[in-house]
Amino acid sequence: MAKLTPKDLPNIPVAPGAWPIIGHLPSMMKNQFSFLLKQEEDLGPLFWVHSGFGQWSVVVTGKPAHKVMKNKETRSDVMGEDDPVTGYITANTVSIHDGAPHRRIRGSMQAPFTPKGMTAAKIGEVLQQLAEQHISRWKDKQELTILNETSEFALDIIFRMLGVENLDLPQWRKKYNQFIGPFTIIPIDLPGTPRRKSIKSVEWMDKQFAKMIERVRETGDKDTMLGAIVHGTDEDGQGLTEEELYANLRILGLAGHETTAATVAWMFIHLARDKQLWSEIRDEVMAQEAPPTSPKEMALFPKVEALFREVLRLYPVLCLLTPRRVEEPFEVHGVTLPKDTIVAANLLSLSRDPEEYPSPETLDISRWTERERSPRPSEAVQFGGGPHFCLGYHLAVFEGVVYTVVATRYLAQAGLRLSHKGDFPTPSYMPLTRPPSKLQLQFERDE
Ligand code: HEM
Repeated sequence: MAKLTPKDLPNIPVAPGAWPIIGHLPSMMKNQFSFLLKQEEDLGPLFWVHSGFGQWSVVVTGKPAHKVMKNKETRSDVMGEDDPVTGYITANTVSIHDGAPHRRIRGSMQAPFTPKGMTAAKIGEVLQQLAEQHISRWKDKQELTILNETSEFALDIIFRMLGVENLDLPQWRKKYNQFIGPFTIIPIDLPGTPRRKSIKSVEWMDKQFAKMIERVRETGDKDTMLGAIVHGTDEDGQGLTEEELYANLRILGLAGHETTAATVAWMFIHLARDKQLWSEIRDEVMAQEAPPTSPKEMALFPKVEALFREVLRLYPVLCLLTPRRVEEPFEVHGVTLPKDTIVAANLLSLSRDPEEYPSPETLDISRWTERERSPRPSEAVQFGGGPHFCLGYHLAVFEGVVYTVVATRYLAQAGLRLSHKGDFPTPSYMPLTRPPSKLQLQFERDE
């Protein structure tokens, strides 16, 4: 498909400062927040950005960005199976389809991701056990490299939910990191190259999945997460093909790992820097006898859940939604974008919209605790919107709450808290917004 560039649509301004070949990547890597805010201020709500290697997209800012996520005119196939960089990972997955095929794939997978399905699959117990196992290792540590801690947990929990045994987790982690390692995007498949290692890891994971799938087929298990996906069907009784089953099992780690890990790490950074916030969260956690065992019981921890939502609002993991391709003329901000324009919704602008969130740069958990209603979909925009809204939304919130409750209990029982001195850490931005990977938090006595 011939994607459009600014030459095809000269009426839309181009963000200044693009380098040859790498485009705006350096500016976005340095500070994607200020880059996007500045373009909006100087150029208005629509502007062209070059994300490197010829990838031009029109960024849509402000409330009309919601329309990019929910419309009949755009398609999600930009990083589809023909893409030499990601195609071998995205082929057959839920993310690159639209319309009937998307409804079938998503419909077949969704049961274990609903609060009811998570309760049936006893996800709460698995989460609590694994969180306790991970956090008990803190006793041997002088300080915590917080993103390492949360990343390892977020990846392990996906494998555990799919039925991987505890002892096999280190091997799965190793293979998974080879699967998605940063240099795998170089599409050279020769012995020893990162791409070849990635393909070998896919073969390894698929072999393990095959054994696990055979087991749930034999037992007829429909309750565990794996069982529910393997036996899942849409409303018309249609399920996943074998290729779709394996591809979507593999992609769960990618979609649900760094995203949740970054968010939970921000929670601990704020808890380490703000004693008042720590006392409020600690008191709420210690007022209950145990961590929540089901999504319903999260209601007992409103401040912990609010902290999850508030850090995600401040640091949306994806500042720009995965781009969409215009299939039929698409009108936004009064401009009609023609077929094959690539559009990206600016989630950062929605997440820090001052009309919705007064003093949007301030962390304030009372934005969530003082409401008498559940958050609306538009208030969970960091998870996208429309038909591709994050499948793991309920799971991610539950995971963040259980991990934080277990960690807070551990610290409070030991008379400790976490602390971080010095300047507030600057996020890293590409490809996801996350805290610095080497950032360390210290343990101190909780006075
Ligand atoms: C804080 C944590 C998370 C954030 C911020 C997040 C964010 C997102 C976003 C923005 C999308 C929409 C992409 C689009 O429209 O193109 C998405 C889709 C998706 N997410 Fe998440 N996610 C999180 C956690 C998870 C978890 C834990 C899982 C599962 C293990 C998961 C699985 C998925 C899947 C399968 C999709 C594709 C849905 C579809 O295309 O229909 N995510 N996520």
